[in-house]
Amino acid sequence: MAEGAFGGIKIRNLYKIFGSNAHTFVDAVRNGMSKTELNEKHGHVLGLRNINIDIPSGCIQVVMGLSGSGKSTLIRHINRLIDPTAGEVLVDGVDVVKMNVQELRNFRRHQTAMVFQKFALLPHRNVLDNTVYGLEVQGISRARSVEVAMGWLERVGLKGYETRFPNQLSGGMQQRVGLARALSNDAPVLLMDEAYSALDPLIRTDMQTVLLDIQKEIKKTIVFITHDLDEALRLGDQIAILRDGEVIQQGTSQDIVLRPADDYIATFVKEVNRGRVITVEAIMSPARVGGGHHGQSIPAETSVEEAMRKLSISGEDDAAVTAASGEVVGTVSFRQLASAIVNAGVTDMGTKSRTDGTAASRPEQTVHNPADTFTA
Ligand SMILES: Nc1ncnc2c1ncn2[C@@H]1O[C@H](COP(=O)(O)OP(=O)(O)OP(=O)(O)O)[C@@H](O)[C@H]1O
Ligand SMILES: [Mg+2]
Repeated sequence: MAEGAFGGIKIRNLYKIFGSNAHTFVDAVRNGMSKTELNEKHGHVLGLRNINIDIPSGCIQVVMGLSGSGKSTLIRHINRLIDPTAGEVLVDGVDVVKMNVQELRNFRRHQTAMVFQKFALLPHRNVLDNTVYGLEVQGISRARSVEVAMGWLERVGLKGYETRFPNQLSGGMQQRVGLARALSNDAPVLLMDEAYSALDPLIRTDMQTVLLDIQKEIKKTIVFITHDLDEALRLGDQIAILRDGEVIQQGTSQDIVLRPADDYIATFVKEVNRGRVITVEAIMSPARVGGGHHGQSIPAETSVEEAMRKLSISGEDDAAVTAASGEVVGTVSFRQLASAIVNAGVTDMGTKSRTDGTAASRPEQTVHNPADTFTA
């Protein structure tokens, strides 16, 4: 592995074709053969086509898409549970595809941790013994493993539950154990495939909060798969949307909401509470050089909804927009804020990667998720 800070994940020109003669079809797929043609004429399944994603260290990369779009196939390439038909998967600068068996085993143990949709806890082990599992495999002493595990169990809100067994816990609590187990590994990469999709909506929102809180401290490189747009917008520093094995849009929450790449994405985005996703920075008028502003000032990363609330309370029509340094970087009016919410005449100047940390209160989309692709 490279020395120094973790170098993130870079996926380059990645193709996956399922079938016995996959390699013979790479060129045809590169040249545009459709998933349907590949399947109907040649009996092969197109899993992924020309995926290129750069995930900086410390970033939460969300991968979103409907069932069968290739999300699990993609995440399973990162720890090479699936071998690509072509392409590179660079983790901290090292191509996972080229690793030998020993290198791969070390890489999986030390560089990656996974959180599974169905928790994948060992039923005969109690909460503590499930949590230390990865450390045990790594050969860490019992005393040290227990110390680390207890720390994470407390952090995810399970202090006092150490001796319970999985069947004595609710789904949300089991997933907290799954998260504590993954975090105990202290691997720089955390892979979460629909980790929260089996949870009730309220518990799910709780678990999102837990993850966002912890991530502020641990700054792991997280790949989080979901088919729920609200979850994607809330968690993702970056979002990639897949359809039929292809990335059809990549960007921040605001890129996706303000500029959906096509009708498919626009349909998803229509239901979103824009006021909570779009920040003032994305819709403000830039400050004129030398132009002062009196009255209220609002930080640039404030959500549109919160900014409207502030202006409503103060009774003012507009406000100065300030950067973290306190410098005035723009102005925003009540009319601009209202327009952003109803999607009328929104400009697309700046964008900011993080949502305000609140989830829109829309019921879960019911996209069928038949396969829990991972096994324990
Ligand atoms: N081992 C396999 N053999 C053949 N085809 C496969 C295999 N694994 C996945 N596929 C196909 O690859 C495509 C992508 O599947 P994948 O499981 O990655 O989708 P997904 O986005 O994770 O869906 P879901 O939301 O249902 O989990 C689908 O067309 C699927 O049928
Ligand atoms: Mg899947």
